[in-house]
Amino acid sequence: MNAPLLKRLWQTFARSRVGRSIFRVGLPESNLERSQAMTSSFLLHIQPAKVHKHSLKAGYSLGLGLISLYLFFILIGTGVLLMFYYVPSTDRAYNEMKDLQFVVSAGLLIRNMHRWAAHLMVLFVMLHLCRVFYTGAYKHPREFNWVMGVGLFLLTLGLSFTGYLLPWDQLAFWAITVGTNIAGYAPIIGPKVKYLLLGGNVVGQEALTRFYALHVIVLPTLALIMVAVHLWRVRKDGGLSRPDESGDVIEQIPLGQLPTNKSYGLMELARGTTPQVGKNPEDEVFSWPHLVFREILLFLLVAAVVLFLAIFWNAPLEEYANPIYPPNPAKAPWYFLGLQELVSYSAFWGGVVIPGLLVTALVLLPYLDRARAGVGRWFARERVVANSIFTICLLAAIVFTIIGTYFRGPSWSWVEPWQQPPAITEGR
Ligand code: HEM
Repeated sequence: MNAPLLKRLWQTFARSRVGRSIFRVGLPESNLERSQAMTSSFLLHIQPAKVHKHSLKAGYSLGLGLISLYLFFILIGTGVLLMFYYVPSTDRAYNEMKDLQFVVSAGLLIRNMHRWAAHLMVLFVMLHLCRVFYTGAYKHPREFNWVMGVGLFLLTLGLSFTGYLLPWDQLAFWAITVGTNIAGYAPIIGPKVKYLLLGGNVVGQEALTRFYALHVIVLPTLALIMVAVHLWRVRKDGGLSRPDESGDVIEQIPLGQLPTNKSYGLMELARGTTPQVGKNPEDEVFSWPHLVFREILLFLLVAAVVLFLAIFWNAPLEEYANPIYPPNPAKAPWYFLGLQELVSYSAFWGGVVIPGLLVTALVLLPYLDRARAGVGRWFARERVVANSIFTICLLAAIVFTIIGTYFRGPSWSWVEPWQQPPAITEGR
């Protein structure tokens, strides 16, 4: 079917009585309709009618926030399907996984999609955090949205971690045992947090029930609310950060003295000052179709990649969880392996002080680093000190994760990956 025919069919439907009851604007043809398409649609109205051209540059945001969002959507969709089968019982969970693999139509594909999308979401949220840092996008007026982002980052780790236990195989059981032991190292509250998470001192039915409730209700609901506020703030903070926000242009200009040939957002007018003095009407384009079509394309791309991974690689499923036979070494999920490596040097410093300081530094960052120069540009020279400190921390995290993943063998001894012996399961 060719495109003009499709367009005509859509237009006929959109203009029919039924079509008009659903879509308040047909396929937009005038600028007014392009604006109305955004403002009158429930799904689209979270975005503005017009966007700055800079926000559309693929090389600026790399679409990393959107990719994280789409992965989250895929996780919700596949997660709901998995819930039709899964039973959070230590007697049944593992068998349900096997059923998904061998009995349920497309069960394995859905499980694979859920697993790979979860790993990708952790990865892409981390990349998005790095992008926001390296472009200085956490600065005024986006301080709070950055803090919100730090919350979302921790929530994403929590979502992935709680899901890890659900298959109830050896990998799940021991990764969660190691992970919750790390949580238990915190002074005073550590053991209490661990007990609260597990509903006891060891991983068992109580832990599975709690992890399931956290994984399917508590954390996703929190994440949904926070993502909605996060996206709303992106819009209210004047869209994506831009170079013209930094430096002298950002001076606080009283309302009465604002140049009249520029356009201003409501928030700026409400503040009585403007961070967007450089914004001209000609710098903006209509969100429909420029932004919306890019978003649809990116979503299709993300879905295709997840589907491709799910078709060709199966999510791991080891033997039924056995609390008596720990694999040696027992490793946490990959995103906690850097932490596990640090804990192997000192439980207190590696498991509590360093991660605690890092999270605190991330939260306080936009309130401490307030210089405006370099915002909206990758690796701006004016931000060389901040960028260097961040890069050192990032490289350290990557190195520790690589060591924990590839260079640690039985009893956490040093091994070279090319000579790594298979994990020993004691007592066999
Ligand atoms: C579930 C996780 C997250 C989702 C779904 C998400 C989504 C988004 C989206 C869609 C955007 C618009 C532009 C883009 O694609 O980059 C954005 C921007 C932004 N995000 Fe996130 N985000 C998440 C996590 C984070 C994290 C971990 C941080 C930082 C700690 C963060 C801080 C920000 C900031 C400050 C902006 C504005 C950037 C700018 O103006 O250039 N977000 N986010």
